[in-house]
Amino acid sequence: MPNPFHASFGVSPPLLVGRESVLEDFVEALEDGPGSSGRASLYTGARGAGKTVMLNAVEDRARALGWLVVSETATAGFVDRMTQQHLPKLLREFDPEAVQRRLKGMTAPLNIGRVDWDTVERHVVQVGLRNQLEVLTDLLSEHGTGVLITLDEIHQNQLAELREIATTVQHAFREGRELAFAGAGLAASVADVVNDDVLTFLRRAERHSLGSVPRTEVERGFREPIEAAGRHIGAEALQIMVDGTNGYPFLLQLVGAQTWRLHPGQEEITTVDAAEGVARARLRLGALIHEPALSAASDIDKRFLLAMAHDDGPSKMADIQRRLAVDVNYASQYRLRLIAAELIYSTRRGYVDFALPYLREYLRDQATTDL
Ligand SMILES: Nc1ncnc2c1ncn2[C@@H]1O[C@H](COP(=O)(O)OP(=O)(O)OP(=O)(O)O)[C@@H](O)[C@H]1O
Ligand SMILES: [Mg+2]
Repeated sequence: MPNPFHASFGVSPPLLVGRESVLEDFVEALEDGPGSSGRASLYTGARGAGKTVMLNAVEDRARALGWLVVSETATAGFVDRMTQQHLPKLLREFDPEAVQRRLKGMTAPLNIGRVDWDTVERHVVQVGLRNQLEVLTDLLSEHGTGVLITLDEIHQNQLAELREIATTVQHAFREGRELAFAGAGLAASVADVVNDDVLTFLRRAERHSLGSVPRTEVERGFREPIEAAGRHIGAEALQIMVDGTNGYPFLLQLVGAQTWRLHPGQEEITTVDAAEGVARARLRLGALIHEPALSAASDIDKRFLLAMAHDDGPSKMADIQRRLAVDVNYASQYRLRLIAAELIYSTRRGYVDFALPYLREYLRDQATTDL
């Protein structure tokens, strides 16, 4: 039987769990009309927390309400891709005469006999982001819908283009247009961007941190796709799989996929399969998550993390400092760096813990191998 689980970045899961209320907030913002604060929403979280699939879900819900969607990733040139590809393509679906009527006066008037799309398109591309969105939202307002712009992997590297988008969206909001914006990125990257002076609308955006998924939801995330695909799992095996995820969305798919493929032709997923699936998922997690997450860490960052890996739970800052033989200021400076990189987080005053599941075990294994 085909495996319903896929551990691939950006690929929507068979069942998106634990995100209902965040999704509802967004749908309400679309329905509430211009001025609703959720019409600018930002989703943050660690690698594999489900930011991209959250944007996918938001887009699906918007489309279901008749909205048009412009979906981009914040890599260099995204504004040009919007103005030269996405928006002309969306406008092409409308009657060229209607588009031309809206375009009149935005640049030199079009004086042509027969209106065909080629003539209009040249004009559309010329007028730029703000005018294109004006034309599109004008046309859509006749149908009672609007435009959703989604932007994934928001990062400071693209600050100039982000400013352009921000200014345009801010303007459209002020004019009461039917426009919505949903962005996603690692919390640290989003924080950098949001602190930029020009991007006030992003600062005011509703920020949702996509954290771990509660146990009962993880259970659903396994059981429902398994049963829908024609297999069965008992309570004990299910608990093993749930325990193996730590509530981490990426691991939900990885454990699911690894467990399923052991005996895809058998109806029952046994406790033995579940335990083996969890073990295999953990092995793959290192290459897929921990290595990339640590790639930007300096040697001192890594020493700090290794000092934490001595503990079985949250580490006391005073212990880390002692293990590294450094002073308080030095240790707290690295603490802040690692929190910003989303490798650790503060559990309570004076304590930190790993932000990624099994990072502790991964570091311990690495340390043993290095020795
Ligand atoms: N709420 C969820 N329920 C079930 N599976 C999920 C959920 N969220 C994410 N996943 C799964 O986890 C994996 C990672 O999701 P996604 O690619 O959206 O992560 P991301 O936060 O965008 O990661 P990155 O920072 O690397 O871009 C995918 O396989 C996805 O299907
Ligand atoms: Mg992503």
